Amino acid sequence: MMKIIIIGATTGIGKALAELYISQGHEVTVTGRRTELLGEIQRLYPDKKIHTSAMDVADIDNARRIIQDLADKNGGFDKVIINAGVGFGKASFEEEIKTIDINVRGFVAIAQWAYQYFKSKGGGHIIGISSLAALKGSAYAPEYHASKAFISNYMQGLRLRSAKYIHHIPITDIRPGFVDTEMTKQNKGMFWVATPEKAAQQIADAIEAKKNVAYITKRYFLLAILMKLSPEWVFKKIF
Ligand SMILES: NC(=O)c1ccc[n+]([C@@H]2O[C@H](COP(=O)([O-])OP(=O)(O)OC[C@H]3O[C@@H](n4cnc5c(N)ncnc54)[C@H](OP(=O)(O)O)[C@@H]3O)[C@@H](O)[C@H]2O)c1
Repeated sequence: MMKIIIIGATTGIGKALAELYISQGHEVTVTGRRTELLGEIQRLYPDKKIHTSAMDVADIDNARRIIQDLADKNGGFDKVIINAGVGFGKASFEEEIKTIDINVRGFVAIAQWAYQYFKSKGGGHIIGISSLAALKGSAYAPEYHASKAFISNYMQGLRLRSAKYIHHIPITDIRPGFVDTEMTKQNKGMFWVATPEKAAQQIADAIEAKKNVAYITKRYFLLAILMKLSPEWVFKKIF
């Protein structure tokens, strides 16, 4: 039985992953801003050992205090999964800044806490939900793609740090393509769309294998190669 905290698990991929781990008998801590949804999850599993806690990762000092308190109160964590994220279509300036506050500042607030926590504990596993979007800029959502490029690069840095100083902290960078969730409801022209449950299963497999990077679903690996190889002038014609 593992102790797992999922940051941002009230809906979508995070919720599906929480439910998968709960069904496997792990002790799961679910966080997010919407307390009514946290209450719903708690009510759904009256017999399971789960914890819920309201947390807004954009409120970085408070978020770090809350995760520390949860670790102290519930006997620590083996895995920290940072899934919280937002994306807006044709974002206003305020929405662009909100994206950076949640996807970048919020991510670093938790990932940095988790790294220090696992370092002092002698090991642990950090998982971050990035995106295929990390690989290139976008005409439609430059701030979202840039936020995911930041966290993928940040996770690579933590991975190198863990290897260099032998901290025993694997870092898994999860890069989904399209998943059918609240975030993508307004998207048009999606393809290879996965259900949150299918995405969650493949994410759990990648975590179990302690992969450095995993594309979800797996076939997005092919698109990732294409995206990495395409020069900007080709990319401009497609996206
Ligand atoms: N769906 C896709 O196609 C896709 C593709 C690539 C990557 N991703 C990434 O996958 C992750 C999950 O997205 P999703 O598609 O499952 O969307 P979603 O259903 O909208 O889920 C987003 C989750 O993040 C939480 N969250 C958002 N802002 C937060 C904040 N400030 N503090 C704490 N939690 C916060 C939300 O909970 P509250 O609102 O209750 O706080 C919710 O549980 C995101 O990082 C997203 O960028 C999704």
